Amino acid sequence: MTPSITKVAAQVDHVFLLIFGVSAAILVFITVLMVWFVIRYHHTRSPKAADIRGNVLAEVIWTVIPSLLVMGMFYYGWASFKALRSVPADAMRVQVTARMWSWVFEYENGKRSSTLYVPLDRAVRLDMTSVDVIHSFFVPAFRIKMDTVPGMQTYAWFQAQREGTYDILCAEYCGLRHSNMLSTVEVMATDDFRQWYESSAQGNEAAIGLLESYGCTGCHSLDGSEEMGPTLLNIYGARRSVSDVNGTREAFVDEAYLRRAIVEPDAELVVGFEGMPSYKEEMPQQDLDAIIKYLTGGATRDLDRGRQLME
Ligand code: CUA
Repeated sequence: MTPSITKVAAQVDHVFLLIFGVSAAILVFITVLMVWFVIRYHHTRSPKAADIRGNVLAEVIWTVIPSLLVMGMFYYGWASFKALRSVPADAMRVQVTARMWSWVFEYENGKRSSTLYVPLDRAVRLDMTSVDVIHSFFVPAFRIKMDTVPGMQTYAWFQAQREGTYDILCAEYCGLRHSNMLSTVEVMATDDFRQWYESSAQGNEAAIGLLESYGCTGCHSLDGSEEMGPTLLNIYGARRSVSDVNGTREAFVDEAYLRRAIVEPDAELVVGFEGMPSYKEEMPQQDLDAIIKYLTGGATRDLDRGRQLME
């Protein structure tokens, strides 16, 4: 098991080891007994069957011992479950949004990121939902795993006790790039966290942050490699085959095209790439403008000439 770095995780491990230990002991006990019976009652020894009609002592033993074991396992399991579900009142809150195939974390001051940044030794409450299908938020080092369900809020919490970077995985099969639905938790010293929390990214850095936090980079690379969707590198001015009700034609990626592709991607589908969700409801105008500015290189590049050349 990966090292556990929260108190609750240590408790979960304790329950796991208890149940594992009890199960292993029972396995050994039954196996030994079985072997002993096979040898003891082998037909070459001509054992004689006895007709036993009840044995109060044996019945009490095989009722009481398993009952105690099961109740003990239930008690420890219940105690850990309660610890997993009881969020301290002063917990910092983070809204988690899952989508195919990325995680977005939104903080109380409106800051968004695709990596979960948290301060050391501070309880963090995660309120989670999904915008498309069921995903599952899983941090092995914290021993927390919680489904994110569209139209529903679920929650989890943790208090990390060691600085470091810990994996976040999606633990519910959610489509083609399920295995790429990864992120990390960065547990930082309180001062470092505050610095990050209060900083605001500018220019390209801010735009890339937006692309990550809206999940764009879950499908579109920024470095030229093609993933689920076309790369965003040098997309401005590129040519695309698109299809709509009127059939397939060549389109020129200008600013209007980019805006349309984000807000109403269903109007024109890029041939060979499908499944781009619409951000019409979700993306405020200022974020859309910042992303467009980044994708066009902040340019007032005149595309009319290119368009004329094409025609
Ligand atoms: Cu999301 Cu698997």
